[in-house]
Order: sequence, then C-alpha cells, then structure tokens
Amino acid sequence: MTASLPHRDTLINRIVEGHERQELLDATAKLASIPVNAWTISDLDLIGVGAFSPLTGFMNEEDYLSVVNTMRLANGIVWSLPITLAVTSDRAATLKVGERAALVGEQDGAVYGVIDVESIYKADKKHEAVQVFKTDDLEHPGVAKLFDRPDTYVGGAIRVLNRPKPKKFNEYYYDPAETRRIFAEKGWRTIVGFQTRNPVHRAHEYIQKSAMEIVDGLFLNPLVGETKSDDVPANVRMKSYLALLENYYPKDRVFLGVFPAAMRYAGPREAIFHALVRRNYGCTHFIVGRDHAGVGDYYGTYEAQDLLRTFDAEELGITPLFFEHSFYCTRCGNMASSKTCPHGKEDHLTLSGTKVRALLREGTSPPPEFSRPEVAKILIEGMAQAGGA
Ligand code: ADX
Repeated sequence: MTASLPHRDTLINRIVEGHERQELLDATAKLASIPVNAWTISDLDLIGVGAFSPLTGFMNEEDYLSVVNTMRLANGIVWSLPITLAVTSDRAATLKVGERAALVGEQDGAVYGVIDVESIYKADKKHEAVQVFKTDDLEHPGVAKLFDRPDTYVGGAIRVLNRPKPKKFNEYYYDPAETRRIFAEKGWRTIVGFQTRNPVHRAHEYIQKSAMEIVDGLFLNPLVGETKSDDVPANVRMKSYLALLENYYPKDRVFLGVFPAAMRYAGPREAIFHALVRRNYGCTHFIVGRDHAGVGDYYGTYEAQDLLRTFDAEELGITPLFFEHSFYCTRCGNMASSKTCPHGKEDHLTLSGTKVRALLREGTSPPPEFSRPEVAKILIEGMAQAGGA
C-alpha cells in the first residue's frame, strides 16, 4: 500500500469557535447524545487540537483494524494505538450512521463536541489487547481499562465545542500550534521531546541533558492525564519539575508544557504513539530510554527501541534518540550507562520504584546521586499530603 506521508507541518484543527460553535451547540439539543468520561474527553480534545494528527475523529472500523493489526491507518500512515469511542449496546441502538451525535461529559453534562457517526462496530477486545498490549492479563492496567469499557465502538469525524478546563497549572497547557510557534520564536530548529509520567530523577536528567548537547532545546512534556493510582500525582510532579528546572537547567534551553493524555502502559506501541504526538507538537527528536511506557514485566527493557527501529525516521516524521539504562556509577563518580561505564553492577546505584516510594513515604530522601534534593523534598511533602499513598 502506498502511503502519503504525514507532513510535519500539517496540523489538524477541529476546534470550532464563534458563531459556528454557537450554531452547532444550539443544534445539539435535538441530537442523540453519547456520555464521555475524562479519558475520552482528553482524546477528543487532543484530536481537536491536532496533537493526534492526522486523526480527525474516533477511528472507524477499517482504521481500527488496520492499526490493531499493522500499526498503520488504512491509508498506510504509521499509527500505533487505537483511538476509539466506546458506547454501550443500548446507547448504540439510539445512534444512526450518517447522523450527528453530541458528546456530553458524564460528570458535568457539558457538551464537549459532536461526532458525525460514520460507523458503529463491535470490537474484539481480546484481540485488541493481545495486539496492542501483548497480553490480555487483567493485571495489566491498560488491559484492565480496555476491558472496563463497553465493546461497541463509534467511529467518525469530531468537532470540539468546549475544551476541558485544567484544574491546576493552566499556564503549562499549550496546543501543538502554540508550541510550534514558541519553538520557532526561540529560534530552535531541533527540539527533543521528553515523555514522562514520573518525577525526573538523575537518570532522566542525564538522558535529557545528553540529548540537549546535540539539539537546540528540550521540550519537557510530562503526561498529566489519567495514570494508574500508584504513579505520583501530576500536581506533585509538576512542582518537582519546576524545582528541577529552576535549579539545574538553563532557562533558555528548556520549555515545559504538559501532555494532557491518558497513559496506556502499552510499552513499545505507546513509544511510537508518544513519538508521533511529539512530532505534532513540533519536536524533531524524541527520547526513548529503558522500558518506555512499560509497566511490570510485560515488555523487555529495549523492546520499545527495537520496535521504533523498524520504522524509518522519515516515515515517523521525528527522529528517536535511544538511551541505555542509566545510573550513577560510584567508581566513575558520574552518571553513565553500559555504553560509557566499564564497572560492574556493584558500583552502580540503582533503586527500584518500590524502594524509592518506601524511602519517600518514611520521609527519607533518596541519595542525591539518585534524586536531586529539591525534587526529593517535594515528593516527600506530596506523599505526606496524600496520606502516604
Ligand atoms: S514513561 O512511562 O513515561 O516512559 P518514565 O517517566 O519513567 O516512564 O520515563 C520517561 C523516559 O525516560 C522514557 O523514555 C524511559 O524509557 C526513560 N527512562 C526512565 N528511567 C530510565 C533510566 N534509568 N535509564 C534510561 N532511561 C530511562
């Protein structure tokens, strides 16, 4: 199949404003409605602002099957995760192909958008899980989420009529059109994107700064949508990022903006998705380290890197930068990886996430070679406020 390559500069925009928005909103009173939760609202909004370009809506069956089976849209363009709208079969019975439906927030009743229903189809969730997550184990948080949703999907182009309002840190929400403009204003021609759902520890800092040596700027783009309950909450992480940047990064070489998407924990496939989305935000490079977007032992340490290597950078529209597992080496006296350090494991400082959480919970800072003291302090405070969660 020949694919028209996604052009780096083509951003989808499905946000409707002004008079047209009002007309569409007024008309929703007569439409069938589909309740949408926070996750779906975030997908809707990210489609709307072009973060998920070239998607213009929730996937129809042809794209869905093609993505699930081949990691490409039906037209051949690389896309690794299904972006779907799930409805109950009762709700589906109220919808008609060829008609418009309103997407209504299940919490607040706000009309977030409309979808022009192009298809209504049943998903084979077991197949989806095995293809996307490489497992159908319900212990996997992404699989559990998938099986929690109804299995009828509605596909079609969307338009956004209301944007979700951030509860905190509003000033760090930028749409792809804005980040692209900002990077251009800064005169940055090469920008490396960094995805994270964790506090930035020394290993993260090391790989970011290694990348910063060869590009004009770093786009620190923490994911702040839904994460699993034992991940550090986004508001605590945001405080820790600000403290880190304030103390250890040159201001004119880093730009902090959030990625308001939900975390899927799909490891290798999510690494591709993360890279494509950062391309849309205007990045030219994207960092992929150890077990990117992984959880538990479901994926190999470098499986995400191996999968990304099967696509060429031109087709992705962004160049992945791969990093080995990084650590502090007590003999080298610096951060390193097996690419740069000749010493054995006994000289390397590595702490498991569980160990770090235990230390923070008891109010103890991990060693400064693992985490900057300013970051540890904020995490300890955050843990205490959350009741040691
Ligand atoms: S992720 O789920 O968002 O990937 P995390 O926030 O921990 O998790 O990781 C952000 C990025 O840093 C990912 O690319 C990940 O592979 C990389 N990374 C995390 N820890 C290390 C490490 N010790 N060495 C090398 N890369 C790492």
